[in-house]
Amino acid sequence: MERAIVTSALPYANGEIHLGHVASTYLPADVTVRFLRQRGAEAYHVCASDDFGTPILVQAEKEGKSPAEYVAHWNRRDREDFESLGVSFDAFSGTSSERNVRFVQDVYLKLKKAGHIYEKSVVRPYCEKDRKFLPDRYVRGTCPSCGAADQYSDLCESCGAVPEKILEPRCAICGAVPVRRETVHKFFRLSDFSGRLREWLEGSSRLQDDVRRYVTGWIEKGLEDWDITRDISWGVPVPGSGGVFYGWFDNHLAYISTAEGMLEARGVDGREFWNSARIYHFIGKDIAYHHYLLMPAVRMGVGEYKLPDMIPTRGHLTLEGRKISKSRGWYIGLRQFLSEYRPDYLRYYLLAIGPYSQDDLNFDWGDFATRVNSELIGNLGNLVNRALGFASRRFGGVPEPGPFGDADRKAREAAKGLPRAVGDLLEAGHTDRALRRLMDFSSSVNGYFQHSEPWKGGPGSATCAYVAANSVRSLAVCASPFIPHSARAIWDQLGLEGGAEAPWESAGEFPLEPGHELGRVEPVFEPVGPRP
Ligand code: 2FM
Ligand code: ZN
Repeated sequence: MERAIVTSALPYANGEIHLGHVASTYLPADVTVRFLRQRGAEAYHVCASDDFGTPILVQAEKEGKSPAEYVAHWNRRDREDFESLGVSFDAFSGTSSERNVRFVQDVYLKLKKAGHIYEKSVVRPYCEKDRKFLPDRYVRGTCPSCGAADQYSDLCESCGAVPEKILEPRCAICGAVPVRRETVHKFFRLSDFSGRLREWLEGSSRLQDDVRRYVTGWIEKGLEDWDITRDISWGVPVPGSGGVFYGWFDNHLAYISTAEGMLEARGVDGREFWNSARIYHFIGKDIAYHHYLLMPAVRMGVGEYKLPDMIPTRGHLTLEGRKISKSRGWYIGLRQFLSEYRPDYLRYYLLAIGPYSQDDLNFDWGDFATRVNSELIGNLGNLVNRALGFASRRFGGVPEPGPFGDADRKAREAAKGLPRAVGDLLEAGHTDRALRRLMDFSSSVNGYFQHSEPWKGGPGSATCAYVAANSVRSLAVCASPFIPHSARAIWDQLGLEGGAEAPWESAGEFPLEPGHELGRVEPVFEPVGPRP
C-alpha cells in the first residue's frame, strides 16, 4: 500500500488561527490527506504547535503564566479550531514536548559528530536598557535587500529575504539603539550543503518550478552558515552548554518526532515508515527559505530521514485587497468565522480561490456570498436536490433504467472519467483546479437533467433518474476531500451506509442499483445572506 506523511507548517502557540493560515496551508493539506486516503494510501496528517521563541516567552510573562501553560492553551485552542473546520490531524503535538526535545538534542549531537556544527564568538545586539541580548525578532530596521522600513532582522515581510544585516537597528521592546556585545554561539554549516541542495532541487521535479528557481538563486548568491543558538531561556536546551536552540533550527524536526511518536503508538517503526512514504510539507511562501534550504540541509546532515517529495507553497491571503495584519486587527479569526458560517462554505471558498502558486489570494465578502450561493448552492446543491428529489417522488428510489440514448451515454462516460480527471489535478497539487473540474461535472449533469426533462414522463425519464442519482454519488465521493460535511449529508440523502469518503475510483462506477431506496431528500445548503 502506498504510504504518505503530510505535514502542515506548525502554528506558533501565540495567537489564534485565522483565515490566512487556513487558506495557504491547512486546507490544501487536509484535502490532500483525505484524497490520498480515499485513493487507498496509508496517509497521516501531522502537525504540532510551534512553542518556542522569545515572543512567546514575553507574552506568557505579560499574562502571568508559565511559558508551558501559555503554549498548552494555544495548542488546545488550535486543535479545537482546526477540528471545527474539519481539518483533521492524526497527531498534533508541540515542539516543547519531551519527545521532541529529546529528538532535537539527538539530531544536534549527530550533526556535531558529523562535523556540521562549530562554535564562534559573535557580537550580538544587546539592549543596555532591557539588559538582555536581543534575538532577531527583537531587532527591527530597514531591509538591506529591498529597502522596506520596520522589518524583522530575521525575515523581511516585504521581499521574503532573510536579511543578514538589518539597517538602522532598534530594540523592538524599548526602541533604544542596541549596543554590540560578545557571546559564543553554535553555527550550522549550511554553506557546506550548497552543492547537495542544488542537486536535490534540480532533481526534484515534483517541487514547484518557480520556488525551485528562486531558491536556487539564493544558493547562487552564497549561503551563510546559520547561528543556531540564542541567549534566552525558552527553547530546546543545547546539550553540554547554556542557551537554547534558535526555533528555526529545530521546529521542523517536530514533523518527524510527531510522526514517529504517533506511528510508534500504533506499533510501527517510525523511521522505516517515514523513509518509505511520500513526504509532503505544506507551507506559506514566507517560510520557503527554511523549508527548501535549512530543513533539507539539517536532514542531509543527519542522513537518517528522507527529504520531502513535495513542499506545496502558497501565497498569502489578503482581506478585501489589503494585507492581513493581526496587530492592526485586519484579519478574520477562524473561530469567529465559524460561529457565523458553515465550515464547508469556508472550505469551498478558500479552496476555490487558492491557486497552487505563490500568487496571493483575496478574501472578499461579496465574492464569498456569490460563490457559495451561485456555485455551491446554485450548481451542486441544486443538482442533488432535483436529481434525488425527482427519483424519490416519481419512482420511490432509483428506477430500472431503460435503453441509453446519446445523452445518457455521454453522461455515463463523464462520470467514468471523473475520478481520474479530478484525481490527476489533486495529485499534481492543483486543489483549486480539481474543485473547478468537479463543479464543471456537476454543471454538466445539471445540463443533462435539464435537457432530458424527465419530469415530463417521457420514455427516457427512468434512465435519466438512474444516471443522475448515480452521478450524484460520483460527485459526493469526489467532493468528500473538499467539503466533507456536505458530502456526508449528500451520502445520507443517497441512502448509503458508511461515508462519502468511499474508494476514489468508485466515483467512476454506478453502484446504485434499481430499487435502491434513497434517504430523506432536503436542501443540503442554505443561502448566505448579504453581510450586514
Ligand atoms: O512561520 C510560522 O508560523 C512557523 N511557526 C512555522 C514553522 S514550520 C516548521 F516547523 F518548520
Ligand atoms: Zn530595549
